[in-house]
Amino acid sequence: MKRNLVVLTGAGISAESGIPTFRSNGGLWKQYRFEELATPEAFAANPELVWQFYQWRQKGVIEAKPNDAHRYLADLEEILGKHFHLITQNVDDLHERAGQKKVLHMHGEIRKARCLRCHKVAENYDYQKNSIPCLACGGKMRPHIVWFGEMPFFMDKIHQCLSKADLFLAIGTSGAVYPAAQFVHIAKEHGAKTFLINLDAANNATAFDFAIQGDAAEIMAQMIHKSEYSPLDWFDYHIKNHSAR
Ligand code: OAD
Repeated sequence: MKRNLVVLTGAGISAESGIPTFRSNGGLWKQYRFEELATPEAFAANPELVWQFYQWRQKGVIEAKPNDAHRYLADLEEILGKHFHLITQNVDDLHERAGQKKVLHMHGEIRKARCLRCHKVAENYDYQKNSIPCLACGGKMRPHIVWFGEMPFFMDKIHQCLSKADLFLAIGTSGAVYPAAQFVHIAKEHGAKTFLINLDAANNATAFDFAIQGDAAEIMAQMIHKSEYSPLDWFDYHIKNHSAR
């Protein structure tokens, strides 16, 4: 019987594509105050400034291209089919552009906007033209992003996936933001083996059965293409042969 793999990605997987992370050197929250740019209160107080920030970030995403790490995950989905689930904290669409079919964007999507009045989501919304109102009701729009203090999307589905996971893999995430930082514990409670690939030591690294420090694309290349093991056996091998760091 095939085993279920649940993957959680964070900003680190898109770093090679030129999209800034939040907490590494040069990360967005090292340069800007999230309180002024990424909260409902900030948007109510200064919508122009918040739109400017997201216009700049949307432009960066549109110009970026997926990297090998995104492509390797699309390969894994191809191999494992319905036994593969991808949850991302990223608001970019690089997973989809690498060929990923199903992605749970728990923190929203920067190519979309949402009506403040009727909550209808507009696909491919150009943030430069943010004065264009909701096509359904004429209401004002906001970026389709989960801001600090707001509830992430798809939490029921995510809990369902985690409860069925045989293996949980987190990639490129500092483990600083909840609830995502908690997923390793939920997966473990349901019996999953847990694995982390991150460039720096993540805040929650010790919670994983095996944590490896390195570049996402490099490690995944070993996992998928250079290994004599199948991808899931590769995890088993590492978990068995190395103690958690
Ligand atoms: P962070 O910026 O907190 O962490 C990114 C992690 O990626 C860092 O720990 C880096 O070491 C690692 N990293 C960088 N380059 C890498 C590479 N090439 N390969 C592997 N790892 C690499 O980003 P997140 O954990 O994703 O929320 O942040 C979580 C949330 O905080 C974001 O979704 C965002 C932010 O506030 C919202 O926008 C709602």
